[in-house]
Amino acid sequence: MSQLPSSETSLLARDEGYWQRIAAKYAVEPGPINLEHGYFGRMTRTVSEVYQQHIESINRLNSLPVRQHFEQVGSVEVRDAVAGLIGVAPRSVAIAQSASAALQSIIRNYNRLQPGDELLVSDLEYDSVQNAMDWLARQRGLKLIRLDLPHPATFDNIVQSYRDAFVRNPRIRLMALTHVTHRTGLVMPVEAIARCAREHGVDVILDGAHALGQIDFDLEQLGIELAGFNLQKWIGAPLSLGVIYIAPGKLDAVDADMGEVRYPQDDIRSRVPYGTPNVPAWLTLPTVIDEHRAMGGSRLKGARLNYLRDLWVAPAREIDGIEVLTPDDPRLYCGITSFRFTRQADQVAMAERLLKEHNLFTVAREGSACGPCIRVTPGFVTTPQEVGLLVKALEQLA
Ligand SMILES: Cc1ncc(COP(=O)(O)O)c(C=O)c1O
Repeated sequence: MSQLPSSETSLLARDEGYWQRIAAKYAVEPGPINLEHGYFGRMTRTVSEVYQQHIESINRLNSLPVRQHFEQVGSVEVRDAVAGLIGVAPRSVAIAQSASAALQSIIRNYNRLQPGDELLVSDLEYDSVQNAMDWLARQRGLKLIRLDLPHPATFDNIVQSYRDAFVRNPRIRLMALTHVTHRTGLVMPVEAIARCAREHGVDVILDGAHALGQIDFDLEQLGIELAGFNLQKWIGAPLSLGVIYIAPGKLDAVDADMGEVRYPQDDIRSRVPYGTPNVPAWLTLPTVIDEHRAMGGSRLKGARLNYLRDLWVAPAREIDGIEVLTPDDPRLYCGITSFRFTRQADQVAMAERLLKEHNLFTVAREGSACGPCIRVTPGFVTTPQEVGLLVKALEQLA
């Protein structure tokens, strides 16, 4: 299913009968129309049931099967399945507790920095990543360069702004890069930026929290050697699961986390912060991955989300008093897109009005250099009618 040709993918993306059957896989509480699926995704009913069974069974059996089977065999099988999902070698991934935990570990344990080196983040990075890079700079007495990305963004002006930053600051050695920014949904030209970074001797840590499950990517092709993901957004796993990725040739650049010796130093699991794992959640992952693939994988999920996004963005661009921030270049957007009311200063208040007056749940986002906005994120249970209601609400409120 995940290998559908692109013509079939775009037909299925708009096949409402197909998406009604997908929606029926989820238990949904009646209430406001949820256009904030960016926080975390629902598990399907099947995943939720299997998770409950594992919670119940591990609680009953307690430590014996965990010590005797899970630690040596079960956890490795699950890890291998996750590597297959991402399309990389099993020994290059380890399961962490969240994308933040994975990314923070790479950042705090990165060992290639010398006095005088510089670090780079943009305004669109996730706050915990910006904070971790700031912390790293302060810990090592280095300078953190903050790049404000251009607005409106184009493929070329984004790549050029990184190129300019590398030329202006030739001591940059490490940078964070977010594949899909949580603020505006902008999809970064990762491959082009990573190539430019390589030419300037800069290592890239990719934040793939919002990319995995809605964008079909190949880390090797992107030229990415260090990355963190989570599994609860677009893959549909229980909460509390993230993934750390370090290309085999790069493992030496990241020390074991805080002196961890439970695993050999050439085992990527030593780079994950220590802690008792959520065993039932891990054991649910093979079912999660089956469900993800049965739904058409990242390619079809992404095509559906893009379709729903286009349904509201095209008319919203025509509304006087609405600015859609995320560009329409298919290389630069996904299902998440942000807009702002141009005549109202307080976007938080406008998001509240969308909820109170129009029953539409969205989220206001600050922190982009281009200013505050409201983020709209459809999900797999969202219908074209619901997206149409958003357009009507924008027309009335603008
Ligand atoms: C771009 C981005 N990075 C990182 C994270 C953090 O993910 P987690 O909650 O798994 O730590 C998020 C969560 O929303 C995100 O949107």
